[in-house]
Amino acid sequence: MRKRRILITGASGLLGLNTAVEAVKAHEVFGQVNRHPLRTEAFTTIQADLLAPGALERLLDQTRPDWVIHCAALANVDACENDPLQARQLNSEVPCQLAELVARGGARLLHVSTDAVFDGQRGGYTEEDAPHPLGTYAQTKLDGERGVLAANPKAIVARVNLFGWSISGTRSLAEFFFHKLFTGQPCMGFTDVIFCPMLANDLGLVFLKMLDAGLSGLYHAVGSECTSKYEFGLRIARRFDLDESLIAPKSVHEGGLKAARSLNLTLRTDRLTQALGEPLPGLSTGLEGFYTLYQQGYPHWVEQLQEG
Ligand SMILES: NC(=O)c1ccc[n+]([C@@H]2O[C@H](COP(=O)([O-])OP(=O)(O)OC[C@H]3O[C@@H](n4cnc5c(N)ncnc54)[C@H](OP(=O)(O)O)[C@@H]3O)[C@@H](O)[C@H]2O)c1
Repeated sequence: MRKRRILITGASGLLGLNTAVEAVKAHEVFGQVNRHPLRTEAFTTIQADLLAPGALERLLDQTRPDWVIHCAALANVDACENDPLQARQLNSEVPCQLAELVARGGARLLHVSTDAVFDGQRGGYTEEDAPHPLGTYAQTKLDGERGVLAANPKAIVARVNLFGWSISGTRSLAEFFFHKLFTGQPCMGFTDVIFCPMLANDLGLVFLKMLDAGLSGLYHAVGSECTSKYEFGLRIARRFDLDESLIAPKSVHEGGLKAARSLNLTLRTDRLTQALGEPLPGLSTGLEGFYTLYQQGYPHWVEQLQEG
């Protein structure tokens, strides 16, 4: 793969950081951060609030990227219900503006969306299936992906689900289970929410392959193996040799969550596997990677990146 200049927005977030870590092995990476500056020499970081007037233009001028991977978002589902205006600005308006600017400048854009655009009533969704968002997060993300493709038909929109190690240690479900079990605390695992998560580092590598292959349009980019959130917790427990009996099997309706959650978020990935000519990483590989990163001290390294 030829070395490119890659701008990754949201590089202090779960997906952006792990994508940057993978991308910098072969490319020149510029990682945009906002409220969580990073202390790292691994890649160049640039502080920018993407809601500030002219911020996107300045970021693109400063970095002159070949590829842009747009991970910045208001990705907390309950925060979106609490602040729908900011959710709309960050998840719908910023991606559209970025798509327009990137189209004008000639770079390639990969915009990150979510499996949650579906209501989860049946699962097995393809890119052709009609989305039906259940809440503010899902609706604003759907509007964002539509706006991106309207403004920049050459862009890639990738609907994802992921887990991994984050600077706060709290951004992914895998970290939630790990920390609960590691400290001996009981927790809930939902038996009726099914998803297909991919390790964020694996997903970052998939993004690079998608951009390198010159893809455009809408793709499902989730793990090749789907599971319930409860079963996911058990598999974390087993891999880390922790006490799985601490995880109580529950329905999501018992979880006291603010925003509605889609139940069956299994997505078909045939379009992407055919385009790339290879299968996508599965959960066993991802959990093995998650464990190996832990053994290598990666969570600690990631945590230390945070300034202040
Ligand atoms: N996590 C999941 O399970 C999941 C599942 C499906 C889809 N996704 C999608 O994947 C993408 C990445 O999610 P994530 O989990 O990595 O999110 P995250 O950990 O919450 O990170 C969000 C990133 O966006 C940045 N950001 C927020 N507001 C900003 C602003 N006003 N200006 C500039 N940057 C801003 C944050 O910067 P600071 O922290 O520095 O402020 C942070 O780097 C999102 O598009 C999300 O919808 C995530």
